[in-house]
Amino acid sequence: MLDLFTAPETEIHTLSQLLRRYEHAYYVQDAPLVTDAEYDRVFKQLQVLEAAHPEFQSADSPTQRVGGQAVAAFSQVTHAQAMLSLGNVFDEAELNAFDIRCKEGLKTDAVVYGAELKFDGLALSLRYENGSLVQAATRGDGAVGEDVTHTVKTIRNVPLKLAGANIPSVLEVRGEAIMTRADFAALNKRQAANDDKLFVNPRNAAAGSLRQLDPKITAQRPLTFYAYGIGQHTLNALPVSHSQTLALLAEYGLPVYQLPRLCANATELLAVFADIGEQRDGLPFDIDGVVYKVDNYAQQAALGFVSRAPRWAVAHKFPAQEMQTKLLAIDVQVGRTGVLTPVARLEPVFVGGVTVTNATLHNETEIHRKQLMVGDTVIVRRAGDVIPEVVQSVLHLREAEYKPYALPRSCPACGAATEQDIENEGVQIRCSNTLSCPAQLKQSLWHFAQRRAMDIDGLGDKIVDLFVDLGWLHNVADLFDPAVLNLERMSNLERFGEKSASNLLAAIDAAKTRPLARLLYGLGIRHVGESTARDLASTFGSLDALQSASLDALLAVPDVGDIVARSVLDYFTNPSVQIMLTRLQALGVAPPAQVVSLDTAHRLFGKTVVITGTLPTLGRDEAAELLRAVGAKVAGSVSKNTHYLLAGEAAGSKLEKAKSLGVTVVDEEWLLGQVAA
Ligand code: IVH
Repeated sequence: MLDLFTAPETEIHTLSQLLRRYEHAYYVQDAPLVTDAEYDRVFKQLQVLEAAHPEFQSADSPTQRVGGQAVAAFSQVTHAQAMLSLGNVFDEAELNAFDIRCKEGLKTDAVVYGAELKFDGLALSLRYENGSLVQAATRGDGAVGEDVTHTVKTIRNVPLKLAGANIPSVLEVRGEAIMTRADFAALNKRQAANDDKLFVNPRNAAAGSLRQLDPKITAQRPLTFYAYGIGQHTLNALPVSHSQTLALLAEYGLPVYQLPRLCANATELLAVFADIGEQRDGLPFDIDGVVYKVDNYAQQAALGFVSRAPRWAVAHKFPAQEMQTKLLAIDVQVGRTGVLTPVARLEPVFVGGVTVTNATLHNETEIHRKQLMVGDTVIVRRAGDVIPEVVQSVLHLREAEYKPYALPRSCPACGAATEQDIENEGVQIRCSNTLSCPAQLKQSLWHFAQRRAMDIDGLGDKIVDLFVDLGWLHNVADLFDPAVLNLERMSNLERFGEKSASNLLAAIDAAKTRPLARLLYGLGIRHVGESTARDLASTFGSLDALQSASLDALLAVPDVGDIVARSVLDYFTNPSVQIMLTRLQALGVAPPAQVVSLDTAHRLFGKTVVITGTLPTLGRDEAAELLRAVGAKVAGSVSKNTHYLLAGEAAGSKLEKAKSLGVTVVDEEWLLGQVAA
């Protein structure tokens, strides 16, 4: 039929339906039906028609999400059915007690529990009348909340109109408004670019976004909603269980993240808890635990409520990922390259499953951005296996006046003047005494001796400190000089027996023939990490060849760019480095010439492999060595560029991620087969 002859009312209806289908496919099912451009085209068409015929525009039209009017104040909403809270369990014993309580209360062991994610956001109640969203309210005190209909309408995965058949005249949907980690990161990036205050976490950002008078602001701070239950309703055939109700909500087009996993007892619930704990870091949003609910409605009714929480449900919380503690001091560490790094000393606090006593503050700019001051109460965060971080100060608890922190003007280790690092836009402050600052010297000796570099067994940081403090070591060549380190001198030291002295000397001797790549990495040339060191070693084959390499020859090495090439050139043209290297060679340090003959036809040549979990026989480093020997690259995290995930026992979030990206997962046996071939 020609549009010309279609009544505008019918056309508006058709376009609205079409847009709803597109939105549901895109935002709820994550499976777009059309391109963004096509969606925009239909949207525009509807907007034009509605503008010409405002009498046919409905409140639940897809055009009514944004552009709604700002409200002057939040009005109160009395919930038709109270919004409850949940009791908590924190360990196995408390979970067992919950299981027993339910089964004793019901006088049967035939109880099925559903386990579902505990979303870390804000509870919402969405009221649909005759299939249209008419009101959205926050939980408030459980009895009375705030009307946030205007902001909730901007949440793209909340349908303004329900889909499907048998829509009840009243349906209250209960669920959680959250901000995904990606939306949170993008929001904070924009805040930083505009010099605006950063949000502490996605939950706070979500709360701020939802409680806006102007929905245009909410639309720019995108929220996501997931349903986890119902309130008042006129369903004439209520499903018999909670899990079936969630499935029904999904049929109505409501976003249900995943259906509850059904379990028979505490042991099964615990297994799901452990599994969800593993998946946690890989989820697109924060969760703070798992909720267990008796699935059958008749059993729920029989158990009833105690004060404001149901007896048939409980939240199993993860250990807190954010805690408050005191910032006792800011210490300054001097790194191998002289960079001064401020480190927070904290009153010990248990967070994310470990006790945290210190955390790097990175640099002065970071401290200013977070407005930290010694003596403050601060929020410390540790998520999963991520290193602990001081998020910010709790400003209202501060009594003193704010004084911005400044790194010392002189090196705390040697007293030399500090200078700003021009390479890093002035963010880094360095000790200028590159030749004899004891802190830099200790760090570079320790780096040289570490397992991944020259692997000198017995030369740990305590011994390095001792030798430097005695004035014996001034650079790495001293380690190999018998006039500096010898049996007689060392045996005379307290706590240094003859045995350990001779062991150390033997270890130093063995290090003289380490592969060139390890020596290069150990020298600590700026911008030369392990992988660049390997590339340089395999390209040039010997220290002499590398020392005389031109800028162009360096630039021809795969993955070596201008900054790295210049840094290598600077290093080898430095006269004191040249003296040190000549001495090193005279003292017998002679990395065997590296012959480079990789089989470019090998199946793993040029492939990127990530290793995770515990392998049955190989250590991770050993597996990495084997992979590199056939020309594969070993990467630290899984991305769409990963070719293989080599997974062992207890592989966690990397395995999840690999599966979700369709990366091929292989095991040790496979690797051994490949490298033997
Ligand atoms: S059910 C009668 N399920 O946790 C049970 N709540 O401490 C009422 N929450 O205010 C809640 N995920 O905001 C339920 N899957 C989930 C949940 C969940 C997060 C929040 C909710 C509630 C709080 C209870």
